[in-house]
Parts: sequence; C-alpha cells; structure tokens
Amino acid sequence: MAKTVLVSGGAGFIGSHVTVELISAGYDVVVADDMSNCDLTCFEGVKKITGRDNLPFVKMDFCDLEAVHNLFAEYHIDAVIHFAAFKAVGESVAEPLKYYNNNLTSFMNLLTVAHAQKSGCNVLFSSSATVYGEPDVLPVTEESPRQPATSPYGNTKQICEDILRDCVKAYSEGEGALKGIALRYFNPIGAHPSGLIGELPRGVPNNLVPFITQTAIGKRECLSIFGNDYPTPDGTCQRDYIDIVDLAKAHVCAVGRMIDEKMENDYEVFNIGTGVPVSVLELVNAFEKVNNLKLNYKFAPRRSGDVTAIWADPTLANEKLGWKAERSVEETLAAAWKWEQRIAGK
Ligand code: UFG
Repeated sequence: MAKTVLVSGGAGFIGSHVTVELISAGYDVVVADDMSNCDLTCFEGVKKITGRDNLPFVKMDFCDLEAVHNLFAEYHIDAVIHFAAFKAVGESVAEPLKYYNNNLTSFMNLLTVAHAQKSGCNVLFSSSATVYGEPDVLPVTEESPRQPATSPYGNTKQICEDILRDCVKAYSEGEGALKGIALRYFNPIGAHPSGLIGELPRGVPNNLVPFITQTAIGKRECLSIFGNDYPTPDGTCQRDYIDIVDLAKAHVCAVGRMIDEKMENDYEVFNIGTGVPVSVLELVNAFEKVNNLKLNYKFAPRRSGDVTAIWADPTLANEKLGWKAERSVEETLAAAWKWEQRIAGK
C-alpha cells in the first residue's frame, strides 16, 4: 500500500512542487495549509499536473493543536514535511512575536501530535542556509558552524532544527518514535516546466528572481541590484540558486530514506544546493540571454543583512540521499519567465 505523506504548507511555492514530485514517486499526499500567504492557484495547478482531482486538502492552522490532532485522526500519516511557516525576513525583524509564535508553535504542535501516534512518525523540516550566516569557509558543509541568526525568521529555523534534534534524541525508540531530517535549502528559484505552478509573492517581492520576472513583464519599473562593491569577482553577491523541481526531488529522496529505514542517524541534516556560486549580475545576464530580452536594472546600495557569498557543498546529499541538482540555471530561468507570463495572462 502506498505510504502517506502530509505536506504542511503544501499550497505554497515549495510545498506545491514537492507534492507533485511525491505523487509522481507513488506516495499518497495530504495537503494542509492555512492559506494565509497563498491562494488556490498552485493547489489547482498540482491537481492538473498530477491528474489527481481528489487530492486531499485540509484548510487548517498548525497553531491549532486540536486541528492537528483531528488531522492525524483522519489520516494515517507515515511522514510529514513541514513548510507551514512565515518567511519574510524583514517582517520578522519588525514583528518578532508573530514569527516566534507562529513558526515555533506550529512545529511543536506537529511534533506533539506525531509523537502521540503509536507508530510514531518521520519528520522532515524545511530549514535554510540562513543558519550558516556569513560563512568563514566556502563552500559550506553540514559541519560548518551555524552563526548567530541575524533575524527572528532565521532564528526560528535554528530553533526548529534544535527542537527536532532534541525530540528525535528523546523519542527514538518504541511507541511514538520520531525520526527527523532537516534540509537546508540554498536559494530556491524557478517554476514547474508546465507553467502551472510557481512563486506567487504578495506585494513587492523581496527575492531576486520574482523581482526580475516582474520587472521583465512591466509590473516593476526597474530592478535594483543591491551592492556592486562586494569582494566577489564582479562585485555583486554570490548565491547558490537551486531549481525548485530539483529541490522538490530532494524531499522525495529524504522521505524515502526515512520510510525505508535507511538513515544512519535518527536525526540528519543535508545541504540542498548545486555547489555552484552565481552572482546577482550573472543571474541577470543569464535571464536576459535565455529569454532573449533586456532587463531594466540599476546598481543600488547594499541591502542590510545580506551576506557577501554563500554556496553549498552538496556532497553529503549526493552520496547519502542519491540526489543531485540536474537542471541548468538557464532552464530554471526560462521556467520562471514562462510562469510569470502565464500569471500575467500573456
Ligand atoms: N537582490 C537584489 N535585488 C533585489 C532582490 C535581491 O540585488 O531586488 C540580491 C540580494 O541582495 C542577494 C541576492 O539578490 O544578494 C539574493 O537575494 P534573495 O532575497 O533572493 O535571497 P537571499 O539570499 O537574501 O535569501 C535567502 C532565502 C531566504 C532566507 C535568506 C536569509 O531566500 O529565505 O536567504 O538571509 F531567509
């Protein structure tokens, strides 16, 4: 019988792509989302791509403990992938309580209920490269030290990693046993090649690629490149941009590792990136070239809180998860542009 994976926050950008890949790998999926930061566009897109008209969807808030109990009473959940969290770095600085309340409570509720199941549960937490801060040595491995978080958002990622580690350590055996994996994402970008699901930022985008595509479509006048005086080859920041479909496939590998009992430790951490640094300017140039257009951009002062450069050493994920980033940055940027055109109705 197919195993069932709960995807919390499954109607969002990453959750919807992960749902598609889980279904195509043969899992049953239950999508749960409070819809606080998205509409049903991506969920409908997932149904179209997978042909699953009856894909289970539960509208719920993971901060509501009773609702989480009810969800686990209704479905037998073999593994859960937890995306349900607030994610705007700037907002978290302005409203830390909102972030600590939501991101920590929802995760603790999930673990409480997962641990209350006789059969226990496998838990995959969506973490972030933000836990490494400004690294001293590049690329970063999972052994690289975590740096003090520079925002409450980043702090919730570190705290949730620690909560998962401690719970797995305490509850690794017997009834209610938990196993956990944290995936540290670098910069997820792009969209599904079908053009049916992608990123739908509310208001002015904070992240680079949605700002680029919205500028190209004419929704924004001009892209500001934040800083061209960094100590990097072209003066702009370097990141590890990981295609969203590649990233989604890493979740399928990680869930399989937990469910098939292939883990070497009850709690494991993996970097999910390409291992290739790309500067802001290189990304902009690649976008122009692959989509054959000119982007209106200017250089602007540095954005506070940005690290100069960070990219992954993905060797551990390559070897232990059997996963590797495959899509080129050009394919990814073409998919992002296709998606932007589709949502603009062009
Ligand atoms: N950038 C611009 N102009 C923009 C937007 C971004 O030049 O309009 C630059 C940034 O300065 C940075 C690069 O593009 O150098 C990437 O910026 P993003 O905002 O897309 O991504 P970040 O690396 O800042 O963000 C990532 C994750 C977040 C996480 C954050 C932690 O996407 O989820 O790291 O710092 F919280």
